[in-house]
Amino acid sequence: MKIIVPKTNGNFDWDTQVNYQISVADKEDGDSKYEEINGMEVLLEVKYAGSKTKLPATVKAVPDAPGLAVIRTSNCFNCHSFNSKLIGPSFHDIGVKYPVTAANIDLLTKRIKEGSAGIWGKVSMPTHPELTTEEAASTVKWILKQANDPNVSYYTGTEGSFRTRPAGTEKKGAYILTASYTDHGPKSAPGKQRLQGRDVVILQSK
Ligand code: HEC
Repeated sequence: MKIIVPKTNGNFDWDTQVNYQISVADKEDGDSKYEEINGMEVLLEVKYAGSKTKLPATVKAVPDAPGLAVIRTSNCFNCHSFNSKLIGPSFHDIGVKYPVTAANIDLLTKRIKEGSAGIWGKVSMPTHPELTTEEAASTVKWILKQANDPNVSYYTGTEGSFRTRPAGTEKKGAYILTASYTDHGPKSAPGKQRLQGRDVVILQSK
């Protein structure tokens, strides 16, 4: 797993588009070079860190938050992206529409499990009976919490771009980009012993 572009310890300009490119090679699943990896399963976390944040010196293998782990292994990213509308509304828009309340968490958990229609448009969301109530609720909590964090966003795919924030009162800042991919486990036991690869790139403001 490697972030090829941008290079680590590079610089970024405020309010500018940054292109990224990630390569994935997994013993069992194959190589993104040969299009053997489903780009939807490659996730890039883009986190803004103010000048006072201590930047990580090494790549730490932190497991995904419970809700994100379910989202990645389910089919959610086929229809939802974090920042823009796909077949379904973006997770960001969902977070804007639903404040974090117990009632909203219950409502959305039920809609993920039982399907949803007529709220956002003409296309409906299929049911997810394979998820337990706890799993579905964990996805809702993750979506609503992350959507409310202005310093973090997520992108799927082995390439794409994001926009840096406009220069604020802080003159210095950094972005921490973390790419990750969870493999499908050994052929003999698909879905079991899944391993996650990660790579981190840090960009500093000029
Ligand atoms: C086949 C496409 C598809 C898949 C797969 C899918 N969704 Fe959706 N999702 C949609 C569409 C379309 C809507 C809007 C439905 C509507 O207007 O009621 C939606 C709506 C939602 C909403 C908002 C519901 C509301 O009442 O406002 C949430 C939350 C959500 N999806 C989460 C998820 C999660 C989590 C997963 C994975 C477990 C997932 N979706 C998988 C298409 C999908």
